[in-house]
Amino acid sequence: MGDHRYDLSHLPDSAGAGANEPAARAARRDRAVRAAVAQGLVGPDEPIAGLLDVDGIRATAAALHAAFDAVTAPGTPVLHAFAVKATPLVPVLRLLAEAGLGAEVASPGELALATAAGIPPERIVLDSPAKTPAEIREALRLGVALNADNPQELERLDAILDGATPSSPVGVRVNPQVGGGSIGALSTATPTSKFGVALRDPGARDWVLGAYAARPWLTRLHAHSGSQGMPLELLAEGLGALYDLAEEINEAAGRKQIDTLDIGGGLPVNFHSDADDPSHAAYAALLRKTVPGLFDGRYGLVTEFGRSVLAKHGTVLARVEYTKSAGERPIAVTHAGVQVATRTVYNPESWPLRIAAFDAEGRPRTGDTVVQDVAGPACFAGDLLATGQTMPRLHPGDWAAALDTGAYYFAHHYAYNSLPRPAVHGWTERPGAAGEEPEVRFATVRPAQTVAEIVAEGGEAHRDGLTGLADL
Ligand SMILES: Cc1ncc(COP(=O)(O)O)c(C=O)c1O
Repeated sequence: MGDHRYDLSHLPDSAGAGANEPAARAARRDRAVRAAVAQGLVGPDEPIAGLLDVDGIRATAAALHAAFDAVTAPGTPVLHAFAVKATPLVPVLRLLAEAGLGAEVASPGELALATAAGIPPERIVLDSPAKTPAEIREALRLGVALNADNPQELERLDAILDGATPSSPVGVRVNPQVGGGSIGALSTATPTSKFGVALRDPGARDWVLGAYAARPWLTRLHAHSGSQGMPLELLAEGLGALYDLAEEINEAAGRKQIDTLDIGGGLPVNFHSDADDPSHAAYAALLRKTVPGLFDGRYGLVTEFGRSVLAKHGTVLARVEYTKSAGERPIAVTHAGVQVATRTVYNPESWPLRIAAFDAEGRPRTGDTVVQDVAGPACFAGDLLATGQTMPRLHPGDWAAALDTGAYYFAHHYAYNSLPRPAVHGWTERPGAAGEEPEVRFATVRPAQTVAEIVAEGGEAHRDGLTGLADL
């Protein structure tokens, strides 16, 4: 991490504890948009970028620690393992590591990203439902904790260990089957979810008890009852089931076999305003009330929050290329669509985004409010960031900002139409002179993908691979 341009932790912390107050957050974002335009990070030839609010991320990391510190017995080990899938960007993981977080990973790629960020193995948890023997061996070699998803995986582990005790903490993932939330695709605790051991299925609980009795080295238990759209009460109910099962296992063992409960992530995010609602503090307090035994110091805790750590800190800034009207509906055609907001475009009811309007200089647009569509650049009719949104009328050369996109959005590129991965920049502020606005400073998180890279990734080196087949 010698190159400071790629090291967000190098940026000074200028905002402090109040950074995530809604008004402060919005004001900071407005200044960042203005600065991104003024400093040429975006422009006619760079018509889209992702922006990350470094002060906001730092404040959320601090708030997450404080939320669990407030409800756990002093001295309880708590590891907040950020779900890398939410924002798989090395400088972001580095920033979070500096703020005391670890990483939850679910693939060799995510493990490599966490390692590249300098996160030590003992602060990483591997959770994929499809771990290969090689991935399991590598986790054990590194000392990375892992949660077995199913009986077959546990047998595979047995075979790999061949009687030895693992050097990594190992647990089993269970599905408490408490039910789903409003978004089926993100509900992991339904009766038929693909994740973990389905605890309420006939015989499953006994199987889990037997598995722990037979393997004294199983010291963790894991559940992740996410995610967006899940009522908090249901999340808490799932963790109540996790806790009860751990108690039963420990009682049967006559000792504290399970020493750590991994309670997953899954805290939903508010996509309708700048408020952190629900907050980590509210969730921790609810868990403390519902499952007090989780926090009395007998169990270490691992959390795996992703969306709730990063979503509110990301903005996609996209240039308005043209404006038009169809069926009397104003439409702004921008450079952000399905490639950066895949879930929203394919499932707009479940994933509505707020779009903020800025003029060509990056100043917030006010007045002349209309009902308009904000479209993306991709060649299909449904490529819309927002449909019928009431907002200030956009003009060619303006900027449309898709808010709350720091998790599962611009870092999850979808290569439709070979649209390039946009650059991502992190920003912080230096206090301005008396009466002056703060100065916004940017650091590169990821450069934009080039057209040459697109061609190379499109198989350029194998250009004659298919046509040459006939000659073989
Ligand atoms: C095992 C596991 N942990 C944590 C997460 C992170 O969830 P969220 O981003 O909703 O906090 C996920 C998301 O899919 C997951 O599968």
